[in-house]
Amino acid sequence: LIAFFQAKPLAGKRVLLTAGPTFEALDPVRGITNLSTGKMGYALARACAQAGAAVTLVSGPTGLACPRGVLRVEVSAALEMQREVLARAGESDVFIGVAAVADYRPATPSAQKIKKNAAAMTVELVKNPDILAEVAALPRPPFCVGFAAESHDLATYAEGKRVNKKLPLVVGNLISDGFGGEDNTVVLFDAAGAHPLATASKTEVARSIVAAIAERLPH
Ligand code: CTP
Ligand code: CA
Repeated sequence: LIAFFQAKPLAGKRVLLTAGPTFEALDPVRGITNLSTGKMGYALARACAQAGAAVTLVSGPTGLACPRGVLRVEVSAALEMQREVLARAGESDVFIGVAAVADYRPATPSAQKIKKNAAAMTVELVKNPDILAEVAALPRPPFCVGFAAESHDLATYAEGKRVNKKLPLVVGNLISDGFGGEDNTVVLFDAAGAHPLATASKTEVARSIVAAIAERLPH
């Protein structure tokens, strides 16, 4: 693998990634988010840069430092992430959706801080756009890679996402194996089937994923 990275398998390629959670505002000081740390997306961005790619990382709020050689665009809500991704996807060779994009956002965020006057409250949520599916549906899409973090039935859900979103490659992992931790166990899903990778650090897993992407790119 070291020799592989010395060979710069992504030299001349432009890679766009999303990482981290999104934050969907409810009012100026509150919102809906999730426990994604962004570590896997940042590890992949770093691995892509080490493999010679020009890397742009559209990141939700993580508190992580920007990897060396990576151009970071910081966003908060899914709609901002969508805008920044679609502005760059057409000129990218590879798009990797690692972000844990909030599936729903408050329908009508309050401009003012909400007061606790009512005994109970109901928040109406509306669905966010599927950024990865939109990129994959572009007329000349980049090579699109999705992530599927599942609590159960990994193969069924990961392969389902690959087919439904029309992706050549999906990285699946069971959330008991990866979310928040340092090590990761993932399975790659492509048109040929399932390819498990050995459990390793997020850095090593990221390098293996980059190698798998590079092998599948048109030369
Ligand atoms: N994704 C995205 N935009 C969304 C939701 C998901 O780009 N609004 C991307 C993620 O970055 C990931 C892939 O789609 O690469 C799968 O995300 P996941 O949450 O596992 O799947 P969903 O399609 O949202 O389905 P569900 O949450 O119901 O499992
Ligand atoms: Ca989701």
